[in-house]
Amino acid sequence: MDKMWAGRFEKALDKQADDFNSSIHFDSRMYKQDIIGSMAHAIMLRRQGIISETEEKEIQKGLSGILADIESGDLQFDMNAEDIHMFVESELTKRIGDAGKKLHTARSRNDQVALDIRMYLMSECEEIGGLLKDLIRAIRDLAKKHKTTIMPGYTHLQRAQPITFAHHILAYGMMFTRDINRLGDAVKRMYESCSIGSCALAGTTYDTDREWEAKRLGFSGISLNSIDGVSDRDFCVELLSAYAMIMMHLSRFSEEIILWSSWEFKFVELDDSYTTGSSIMPQKKNPDMAELVRGKTGRVYGDLMALLTTLKGLPLAYNKDMQEDKEAIFDAVDTVKKCVSIFTPMLATMKVLPENMLSAAGKGFINATDLADYLVKKGKPFRTAYKIVGEIVAYCIQNGLILETVSLDKYKEFDDSFEKDLYGEISLKTCVEKRISAGGTGEKSVEKQIEFLTELLND
Ligand code: ARG
Repeated sequence: MDKMWAGRFEKALDKQADDFNSSIHFDSRMYKQDIIGSMAHAIMLRRQGIISETEEKEIQKGLSGILADIESGDLQFDMNAEDIHMFVESELTKRIGDAGKKLHTARSRNDQVALDIRMYLMSECEEIGGLLKDLIRAIRDLAKKHKTTIMPGYTHLQRAQPITFAHHILAYGMMFTRDINRLGDAVKRMYESCSIGSCALAGTTYDTDREWEAKRLGFSGISLNSIDGVSDRDFCVELLSAYAMIMMHLSRFSEEIILWSSWEFKFVELDDSYTTGSSIMPQKKNPDMAELVRGKTGRVYGDLMALLTTLKGLPLAYNKDMQEDKEAIFDAVDTVKKCVSIFTPMLATMKVLPENMLSAAGKGFINATDLADYLVKKGKPFRTAYKIVGEIVAYCIQNGLILETVSLDKYKEFDDSFEKDLYGEISLKTCVEKRISAGGTGEKSVEKQIEFLTELLND
């Protein structure tokens, strides 16, 4: 295919250089945004008297034809084209002749590419937001079933205090809620800065109406500086960072599911349809999906680092290095979508094993804080109570006992304010039920969290 810029050159581009330079094999996925952008541009040119009504009509007809033919499969992308923008323009000219050559008046590929990625990402964010909502729904539904399922809560991966399973997984519900908000924030900033009409970098001598064109494309405003308009990729970095955060949350959750499904924990069992076997060990049931989600997190972090590194030394305005933004961001979009999509059904089909959680919670003195609080309620300062309970725990460890099996007489040897009611205070059920503070593991707070997510989900 002849290059559009061929006029200035005496020799054709070397084949290997041409392949190296070309981005059609990855930017063709933005064909729809590219065509929609061009349609709006043609109307703006006609409204401003830059092209005639007939020319605009021909352009619209040509572009709709190209869009329909790509979607039906009748038109294949020409892999010899330099990029999607050149492909669409040359196909248009092939179809409608001279009017097609007028489309590129008062715009450049630099502004076009910045526009196309924005529009592409806005729609992908909508989809990812929807997938995250499905995940939050699965978390909410699981939490509803486990409001009174007791498990050990951990710090430093050491049993710390009893909590409910609902409370534990709702923590992830809160994280994914913030992730959705982060996507919304990034999209809001994209909305405000439509780049089309920057005209490579300095603006144009034509009397264009960028505001109108931006509104037509659904933006709330235009980039106020044409150099910034074509050079800005912060929106990609910002989104990549939001994607990295989603992956980090998914990865932590995956790690817990991997631990919980081990024989050492056995708190959950993953459904057969989301686990795999081993080629040699017949007993194995491996949590591959969760492991892959954890593994792919590194890849999305890599995408973020790659783009930050690509941008860091670039002088203004556009440089070809910026073509590298797309592979990073597309890879991150695809990876996040795949990971959230697999994680949700894996979680929804996961079997929870409450007896195992309870029996693990019964070991490890996770009610020691509650025993100290008991003494505080009897008038002891917390530090003193803490020390007494520490001594009782040491005594238990030496004698193979747990706090529930120490006799009242023995308790009285440690402190005579201990009474029979201490046993009720340290039952795991009481420990959980009495955690009535806002945001705690008590049932009221858990219900409030479920309500919060239900409101967000609008169902
Ligand atoms: N394919 C290019 C990219 O993705 C489009 C912009 C090209 N602009 C240019 N002046 N060569 O960045």
